[in-house]
Amino acid sequence: MQVVTNPRVLQEETIRWRREGLTIGFVPTMGFLHEGHLSLIERARAKADKVVVSIFVNPTQFAPNEDLASYPRDPVRDQALVESAGGDILFMPSDADMYDPHAATWVEVPSFAKNLCGASRPTHFRGVCTVVAKLFNIVQPHYAFFGEKDWQQLALLRRMVCDLMFPVELVGCPIVREDDGLARSSRNVNLLEQERAEAPYLNKGLELAKRLVEQGARDVAKVIEAVEIYYNQHIFLGKIDYLSCVDPDTIENLDHVETRCLFAVAMRFSKVRLIDNRLVCAQS
Ligand code: PAF
Repeated sequence: MQVVTNPRVLQEETIRWRREGLTIGFVPTMGFLHEGHLSLIERARAKADKVVVSIFVNPTQFAPNEDLASYPRDPVRDQALVESAGGDILFMPSDADMYDPHAATWVEVPSFAKNLCGASRPTHFRGVCTVVAKLFNIVQPHYAFFGEKDWQQLALLRRMVCDLMFPVELVGCPIVREDDGLARSSRNVNLLEQERAEAPYLNKGLELAKRLVEQGARDVAKVIEAVEIYYNQHIFLGKIDYLSCVDPDTIENLDHVETRCLFAVAMRFSKVRLIDNRLVCAQS
């Protein structure tokens, strides 16, 4: 496996691969890899001839008051994991490699960024779209793999890829969970012991929403109220940032459960904010 830091060097290599007729699978990450990331690399390995993994903690998707400084990092361990998972190139640029000091271009999909995480992180998705657009131009992938835990990110990137005609297919991959149901996240290590014990209830609350819809509930406000009560009974150290039901494709809020809807939650603990979601398909 090659480790590349210079975007132009990587771009030359991937252009060469494309000319040779090889397909490229790309897994963009911010490092501190876990089973969820490894499942994306596995999918890429199965689908493409060459696999590129990037590790870049993108500063433009963090607001000044957010956890950029404490975002967990372990580049040596990450490198070994990517190598054993079968990556061909690990791309680890520095901030200066990725952002020219005179950079003045942003990529935004505002209508997809106004709800859920975008409501409390108003500049987050602009940073995500901009860096992913740059990474796509550098890596030139045929396929790019994203976890469905960041469902809003995936929906918004699908819109961006379609609108800007990037020649890449986005592949959404299922959430990978711990044995107790907590969605795997690099940020889980920053939970305190008692917070970690309460965090699996996030997923259990979403399961309750799904059960209520399966039993016939259609009024979103009532389902949300039941889940809020459940959270208040089981989670004492976390504060709900949002608990919403949205259209899974457009991320617009729903009042009434439709055939497909997404229940999504974000909760703030002392040092971390966790997100999770559940796609629910109602019988009409
Ligand atoms: O999901 C992430 O880890 C990041 O948002 C991404 C897509 C790597 C962009 O920095």
